Amino acid sequence: MSTVIELIEAGAKLLDEADVAFGHGTTNAFDEAAWLVLWRLKLPLDDMDSVAEREVSPADAQRVGALLQERIDTRMPAAYLTREAWLQGVPFYVDERAIVPRSFVAELLAEGTIDPWLGDHTKRVLDLCTGNGSLAVLAAMAYPDVKVDAADLSTTALEVAAINVTRHQLDKRVTLLHSDGLASVRGPYDLILCNPPYVNAHSMSELPAEYRAEPELALAGGTDGMDFIRGLLADAPSCLSENGVLVLEIGNEREHFEAAFPHLEVVWLATSAGEDQVLLLTRDNLA
Ligand SMILES: C[S@@+](CC[C@H](N)C(=O)[O-])C[C@H]1O[C@@H](n2cnc3c(N)ncnc32)[C@H](O)[C@@H]1O
Repeated sequence: MSTVIELIEAGAKLLDEADVAFGHGTTNAFDEAAWLVLWRLKLPLDDMDSVAEREVSPADAQRVGALLQERIDTRMPAAYLTREAWLQGVPFYVDERAIVPRSFVAELLAEGTIDPWLGDHTKRVLDLCTGNGSLAVLAAMAYPDVKVDAADLSTTALEVAAINVTRHQLDKRVTLLHSDGLASVRGPYDLILCNPPYVNAHSMSELPAEYRAEPELALAGGTDGMDFIRGLLADAPSCLSENGVLVLEIGNEREHFEAAFPHLEVVWLATSAGEDQVLLLTRDNLA
């Protein structure tokens, strides 16, 4: 019989040899294999060491093998196979109707990085481009006294967000809105979080299959990645309260962002991805 760790190591080798792409919650073959093996065996995902030497029956080992093969054959992100993704230790339901959540804004919420710009005045938060609702849920958890609106253009993503809001018993504090950008939201907001579609056209054309399995609406930001962001920055001042701030994720698009908005004074917020992926703008900066 194989042990759990042997299955994980063999799975990692398979994933590496098949050249699958990572980036949807893991960054390497070992972590991805560990996720799939532990999930299939219904073992805790956050405590591999305690189960590593456990023996696995041949029938269970076969089920693990089938899942790894499905990951390789379909090139689906693991979360679309497990129907679950974790962000800052919080589980979220996931399916192909919404992008797999992995926003670095989640770290900022957990670590209190935005708190210096917040205060007693912070009552209303908007998670614009909410996808599966993860940032809205994490914001409601981080700031127990605020009300959160969560908006998206995709009605199917909003269906997934509704599952997550209910799963975390936040229906009274998180309201889902169908909105094209800020067109149908109910400002003013004291804090707007936004992880928008920002992938530039060249990068879109080179995306691995795992990313092409996600809704294009969630990723594509036009030629320079800034299509959505241009409209957002123009409209945001009228949706922010006097001391309101916008926290915006732009991924690897800093160069395009600075070319599009050369005179904007921004505060870069450090995350585990570096100091140029998420920025903060006050209403004064925007105006
Ligand atoms: C990068 S995903 C982020 C999802 C989620 N906030 C997260 O971090 O996992 C971008 C989201 O923006 C939505 N979106 C795209 N264009 C939009 C628009 N014009 N107005 C509102 N939402 C839009 C997509 O449907 C998608 O859910």
